[in-house]
Parts: sequence; C-alpha cells; structure tokens
Amino acid sequence: MRLWTLAAVGLAAGGLMAAAFFPAVAQQDAPNPQAAIGRLLFFDPTLSEPAGQSCASCHEAALAFTDPDTTQPTSRGVHRDRVGSRNTPSVMYMAFSPPFHFDPKEEHYVGGQFWDGRAATLEEQAKGPFLNPVEMANPDPRAVVEKVRRTGYAAQFEAAYGKGALAEVDAAFNHIASALAAFQRTTPFQPFSSRYDAWLAGKATLSEQELRGLRLFEDEKKGNCAACHPSQRGPKGEAPLFTDFTYDNLGVPRNPDSPFYAQDKAFNAQGRQFVDLGLGGFVDKRNEDGKFKVPTLRNVARTAPYMHNGYFKTLRGSVVFYNDRDQRPACKGEATEAQALERGCWPSPEVASNVNTEELGRLGLTEQEVDDIVVFMETLTDGHRPRE
Ligand code: HEC
Ligand code: HEC
Repeated sequence: MRLWTLAAVGLAAGGLMAAAFFPAVAQQDAPNPQAAIGRLLFFDPTLSEPAGQSCASCHEAALAFTDPDTTQPTSRGVHRDRVGSRNTPSVMYMAFSPPFHFDPKEEHYVGGQFWDGRAATLEEQAKGPFLNPVEMANPDPRAVVEKVRRTGYAAQFEAAYGKGALAEVDAAFNHIASALAAFQRTTPFQPFSSRYDAWLAGKATLSEQELRGLRLFEDEKKGNCAACHPSQRGPKGEAPLFTDFTYDNLGVPRNPDSPFYAQDKAFNAQGRQFVDLGLGGFVDKRNEDGKFKVPTLRNVARTAPYMHNGYFKTLRGSVVFYNDRDQRPACKGEATEAQALERGCWPSPEVASNVNTEELGRLGLTEQEVDDIVVFMETLTDGHRPRE
C-alpha cells in the first residue's frame, strides 16, 4: 500500500522517466523510520509554494539525482520563469562530505554541501531549497511545516519523531531537515555498484581502453585527475569517492547559455555582469574566489551538463579543456563549448584570479588519450549487474 502511494507521488513529481526508475528507490527498505519519512518528503510535490515541485523534481534517481530537464544548464523553480545560477549537482555520495571546515595543516577549505560549501551538513542544506525563491519558494519555515502537517504521512512523522513533533515550527523544521538527511544517507544514494567497484573487488573486467584511461587518470605526469578525484581505496579499504571535497578554480568560462543572466532583476540584480565567486563569495576571501567544490565523478556519464555553471555539455569537452586550456588562444568574446571546440579557442575564465595552472591546463594528452579517459569515466556508473 505504501509503495503505491509513493509510486503515485513519483509520477506526479518526475513524470514518466521517474516512474521507470522510481521503484528501485521506493522498494529499498529504509533502515530507520526517520529515513522513511525523509523519502516521503523528498518525493512530495505538495511542499513547494505553489504545489508542484519536490526535491526529486531537480534530483531524479534515474539521473544520479540530477535535473531531468537537461534543456538548460541551470534549474527552473516551481515558478517556471525563475531559474537558479548553478548546475544541479548529483546528491549521490554527498553523505561522505565532511562538515565544512578549514584544514589548517593543508591550508585549505574542505567539505560541506553546495558548490561553495555554504551549508556545513546535509541537515543544514535540506532547509535551503524549501525557502529559496527560485526553487520551492516557501515564504518561511512555518509555511513548510504547515504543508507537512497536511500530508497523509503526518501521523507517521509523529511516530518517527515523537508526539507533537510537528507542533512547534522551529523544532519541526529541524526534524524535516534531519529526515531528509537520513534518507540521503541510505544505500540508494551510495550503492558503490559501478563496474569499476566490481573490478576493484575482482568481480568484473575492464577493457584495454578502460584500463589505459584509468592509468592516465592516475598518472601524475599525464591526466593527474586522481589528485583531486581519488580513484583508489583508502587506508582502511574504503571505496574511492572520486572527490577529495576540496575547492579549486579550474578557470571554467562563463556560460553564455545560462538563463540566469536574463533573469528578472529581483533574482539577479547584476544581470549579465553576474560573476559567480563560488567559495570566495561564501567565506568572503579574495584568495578563494572562483573556487568550487570538487564534484564526485561517480555516475558522471549520467549527470550532464558539467561544472558549476553547466558550461560543458559533453564529458569529452571537459577533458579537452583540462588538456589544452592554456595552449589554445583566447576566444574573442564569449563562446559556448561547441563554438570553442570548433574555433580552436577557449574563452577567458569566469574568475581570472586563483586559476589552477599547476595541475591542469597543459596536460599534453593525445586525442586517443582524451578518449581513453572519457571511456574510463563511463565505468563509474552505478547499477552494474555482475553476471552470475
Ligand atoms: C529547483 C531545483 C532544485 C530543487 C527543487 C532542489 N534542489 Fe538540491 N540542488 C539544486 C542546485 C542548483 C544545487 C546546487 C546549488 C548551489 O551549489 O548553490 C543543489 C544542491 C543540493 C545538494 C548539495 C549537493 C552537493 O554536491 O553539494 C543537496 C544535498 C541537495 N541539493 C538536496 C536537495 C533536497 C533535500 C531538496 C529538497 C528539500 C532539494 N535539493 C531541492 C537544485 C535543486
Ligand atoms: C586540482 C583539482 C582537480 C584536478 C587535478 C582535476 N579536477 Fe576535475 N574538477 C575539479 C573541480 C574543482 C571541479 C568543479 C569546477 C567547477 O565547477 O568550476 C571539477 C569538475 C570535473 C568534472 C565535472 C563534473 C560535474 O559533475 O560537473 C569532470 C568531468 C572532471 N572534473 C573530470 C576531471 C578529469 C578527467 C581530470 C583529469 C584530466 C580532472 N577532473 C582533474 C578539480 C580537479
């Protein structure tokens, strides 16, 4: 019975695509009552103002919990004429991001949620979308709590969090955030079920080309990708996360296709002048400007477009950029990925300061080696079924 209700919500929230993949998430037994509530909240389209948008509307299971609307690089809110400034990231494996902090030994910021780390934890993050005017657009926490009180699972909520758990707004909003975090800590968000995982466990093979790609990915004198996207097991045998949760400025260009620039002044006062300072904007330090959190490359074949502003529509384009960013001439003015690749240039970075020129930009990879790395990344997609 409960599964039916969930399937209906999944349909309303995500359309047909979600319906095909949704059961996988719905049928997984939630390990605890809090996570079960989190699952109901995550797929519930009645929690936006007006109704119509859930977390799953932008974070769809079939696409590694990214936005199914790939017609534009950033996501539309429940008010369809409003858009955000950033590409919707996968929420998979983000339960492993440590709470946002400054590491004094390494002298850099680590962890947190969002591209700029401005939410320390999953709990803190979960409160954001409900109140964001370009997302679910509730005026305040009270409006969210009132909506949850009216759901068919309000009693189940109280059973999980205690009688009267929805009575007081601040406490109830904290429970809502904690339930969503608990759900995002369940297995469907970190299944470690890619062919690469199976290969690490000795239960699958990689092709010659995939193995070449892996070697290039790890070779410090070649791709050097693993320097920020670790690919080997940790000291205690932990599966690799393909991110070290640090921050860097790759010199990604502005995205001329971003609908955010033309957004109503009320939601983007700077218009076309808008520059995303990333971590620097959050911590208010100019030596962090232009830096964004290293995303996991798990499921990257499913999560196009790429980078904080969705500049790259293709995985190959992003690897070409790593390879020859500092070798091509600057494009005259703005150019999309396709235009830049055709003209043999790259536009100047969105934020010119703090660009990492030590580890990337001039890798000297051949066309074949670029292909090999792309093919390797395609082994990181979850849902590999080993042959019995
Ligand atoms: C309108 C689309 C939209 C909706 C609805 C939405 N998100 Fe997101 N989500 C985004 C975008 C865009 C970002 C990145 C924003 C940023 O970095 O500033 C994001 C980031 C996140 C992150 C951080 C991931 C990371 O890599 O740091 C988590 C976790 C997350 N969302 C969970 C949720 C939950 C839970 C809900 C429902 C309460 C939700 N989202 C609703 C678009 C959406
Ligand atoms: C110095 C650290 C660093 C190195 C080295 C590095 N990356 Fe990244 N990678 C990042 C950061 C930071 C981002 C996000 C940048 C942004 O959005 O502006 C990123 C983003 C990506 C993305 C986009 C993922 C998404 O979900 O949007 C891909 C693909 C990628 N990297 C692949 C690679 C490959 C392949 C290599 C090696 C050729 C590599 N990276 C080397 C730090 C690094």
